[in-house]
Amino acid sequence: MLFSSQTFLGLAVLSSLVVSMSILDGNTISDTSITNVLKTEFGAITAEYSWKWPRIQSTQGVFDFNASDSVLNWAVANGKLIRGHTLVWHQNIPQWVDAVTDKPTLTSIIQTHINVVVGRYRGKVYAWDVVNEVFEEDGNFRNSVFYRVLQEDFIDIAFRAARAADPAAKLYIGEYNLDYAGPKIDALLALVSRLQARGVPIDGIGSQSHLTLGNTAAVPAQLQRLALTNLDIAVTELDIRIPKSVDATKLAAQQTAYASVTRACLSIPKCVGITVWGVSDRYSWVDTTLPAFDSPLAWDDDYRKKAAYNGIEYALDNEL
Ligand code: XIL
Repeated sequence: MLFSSQTFLGLAVLSSLVVSMSILDGNTISDTSITNVLKTEFGAITAEYSWKWPRIQSTQGVFDFNASDSVLNWAVANGKLIRGHTLVWHQNIPQWVDAVTDKPTLTSIIQTHINVVVGRYRGKVYAWDVVNEVFEEDGNFRNSVFYRVLQEDFIDIAFRAARAADPAAKLYIGEYNLDYAGPKIDALLALVSRLQARGVPIDGIGSQSHLTLGNTAAVPAQLQRLALTNLDIAVTELDIRIPKSVDATKLAAQQTAYASVTRACLSIPKCVGITVWGVSDRYSWVDTTLPAFDSPLAWDDDYRKKAAYNGIEYALDNEL
């Protein structure tokens, strides 16, 4: 089991105990091989796609919560926490949002989306990824419609709207490639200081941690840097992809890498959770998005536990 009964008790009071989480969505919710693993091994879930903007409000003012509600209902029925993912993201943005060129219109569109979505799930969501992936690798803001029209203000607008819509939810900024020293993590940390100085209601940093085997050594040090902000820290989308082709040596190295990332979070008091971005390799986004890599998760294509599972479990069982 990837969370102890003691940790599970912690979930009920939303303490800062580490919880392990995974993702679920329309493609996996009816696969009992997946849901049985989620029921027994994980304390919380994130929707992989169905809570994203185009799935909920593809046409302005027309909200469709069918798919997102089924994930929420599954979580509630099975006593799992849910992380809301994600509100303002440059990817999968409906054309009617992408086409906006003036500040008042875009401000109101962001506020409406957040009011309606976060408001619907008020009191039911443990944490929201309010803004996601705002930086380029060089530390410049990404040229999204949000930044083009509103500059950095879009971040303040989004966080303030989310806090107003659900004062109890933890509000996160999410980003990938915070796992290495460099301009991206520097820019993220500088942004967080500015947000804190302006009194923007931010509670956490989500480090996605889509990692490549052989390139995970800097993770503990970078997580510690994130924790110096005094915000909650979470690993929100962990997977460790293997450069093809996969063999036993690489799978053993993946076990060590999973153990070390898990231990890195456990050793930081402000690190409150680890979400793996999927259960079985069968459904991982890596297959389609990063085809030079394979086998990123802790269960294989046939739902068998991999060495990676033992790595996570060993780290959780031997918390220092
Ligand atoms: C990915 C999902 O896994 C895919 O199924 C979907 O088609 C696209 O999004 N960073 C994120 C996640 O914040 O939302 C992405 O998830 C993976 C990268």
